Amino acid sequence: MNVQTLKEAPVLVIGAGIMGAGIAQVAAQAGHRVRLFDAREGAAAQAKAKLAQLFDGLVTKGKLSADAAQTILALIEPITALDAARDSQLALEAIVEDLEAKRALFRQLEAVVAADCVLATNTSSISVTAIANGLAHPGRLVGMHFFNPVPLMKLVEVVSGLHTEPTVAEAIYELSKLWGKQPVHARSTPGFIVNRIARPYYAEALALLQEQAARPEVLDACLRGAGFRMGPCELMDLIGHDTNFAVTQSVYAANFYDKRYVPSLVQRELVDGGLLGRKSGRGFYRYPDGAPALPATVHDAPAAPRAIAVHGDDTVADRLAAAVEQRPQLGGRNATRERASGWTGLAIDAARLVLTDGRCAHELAAALGVRDVAVFDRPLTATNGAALAYALADGAREAWRTQAPAWLAALGFAPQRVADTPGLIVARTVAMLINEAADAVQQGVCTTDGADAAMKLGVNYPAGPFEWLAQWSAGGVIALLDALDEHYRGERYRASPWLVRARASVRIGER
Ligand code: NAI
Repeated sequence: MNVQTLKEAPVLVIGAGIMGAGIAQVAAQAGHRVRLFDAREGAAAQAKAKLAQLFDGLVTKGKLSADAAQTILALIEPITALDAARDSQLALEAIVEDLEAKRALFRQLEAVVAADCVLATNTSSISVTAIANGLAHPGRLVGMHFFNPVPLMKLVEVVSGLHTEPTVAEAIYELSKLWGKQPVHARSTPGFIVNRIARPYYAEALALLQEQAARPEVLDACLRGAGFRMGPCELMDLIGHDTNFAVTQSVYAANFYDKRYVPSLVQRELVDGGLLGRKSGRGFYRYPDGAPALPATVHDAPAAPRAIAVHGDDTVADRLAAAVEQRPQLGGRNATRERASGWTGLAIDAARLVLTDGRCAHELAAALGVRDVAVFDRPLTATNGAALAYALADGAREAWRTQAPAWLAALGFAPQRVADTPGLIVARTVAMLINEAADAVQQGVCTTDGADAAMKLGVNYPAGPFEWLAQWSAGGVIALLDALDEHYRGERYRASPWLVRARASVRIGER
């Protein structure tokens, strides 16, 4: 098996729903003759008619030529019996997400197509190994997991189960490229790459909401401030809480109820109450209005300090040093640098503005022996005016309670006060995304490059987990996870063995 066999061969798409119709379009655009079949009478023809309508709109707007539209549509043939597609070299299913239905379909297909026809499943959550079980030629079955909307989303996860022949996976990988996609190899494990690594993006927000650390609009603003296109709450409202909760539950159950993936009571309550998000008019927010705007707070310039020092030896400390230096009114010209103090941030007279390392502000106050402490979230972007979470130590004096946000505002952020919670919002979320990606790599699900590409292309993350790690450090991520672990006591925040090894190799490299 190789891609040459598939290149111009007829393709059979089974299931003419959202995904099947999109896959048929993409295959036809790549020049394949496509047969489209659906168990529901008339569904395949309807899908083609809908595509024709969509193309009409594109032609009118001048985004597609009438000839091209005609050529693509002519390649798509709705069929009413699978027999009409005997000569297919690739049969790709996008039917209902049900193991028995998919198995039955592939058994039926084996009686129709040739023994060398590749069988592909677009399942987003079922084991590819399990689907192949019982087939006469299970080695030719592979996952070809597209993302919605198929014509726009570049990622395809090429999922290999235990039976899948490497040559079949490779041929589908190459074919995906010919279809204009960016494929990534994945091993069949719960959630594959994207749906697995993305869990903490939702889970950490839900955990913060459950302990009332911040309001949904603050969580969303801070994660948008870190470069994510949508915050977790608005995104869950968009996906639908029923769908998002179902995926979380399936990943949780498939991992034998590993506490790391435990679903949230907050989300369950929304689902039980029919507050499913946009589609039901209300989720975290009410629609059509959506998230309420954050109050625009104006902060006075902070009082000029008598002494200021930039602490830390990492990229954030460098950024702080540059920001302070550019602001002579903050005493920046006289700022000193302390690289070995074990924390990153600013010492402003007797007060401390500290980058989160996982410790809460009150713990840092005790460790540093200082009353006026504020801890701030990890800034991921250089965007001016980006929302950034901070928390104050319980014992902080009144003056510092206004000075701390004034300093963050002067440094270019829109400070958002949240509860004194370990790892705040962005650092905690990103550490968990990195940790999940590290475990996926450790378990052979994907490579580091594959994880980065998948998260950027499958869910539009502003960077991949290993790109964030390169800006941070394995030791720093583990320290933050350990602090979360100590605070919450459970298995959820255990550090990946991959990260532990990465930290050790950095240490060896430093010797
Ligand atoms: P859908 O409900 O829009 O379409 C499914 C279609 O399959 C329907 O038209 C239905 O009549 C047909 N069908 C059901 N059983 C059939 C059978 N035994 N034989 C032939 N046709 C049958 O569903 P959607 O969203 O297109 O999903 C399809 C598959 O793609 C599922 O496995 C889903 O998990 C997966 N997927 C869905 C994504 C999404 O965002 N909707 C993303 C990635 C994968």
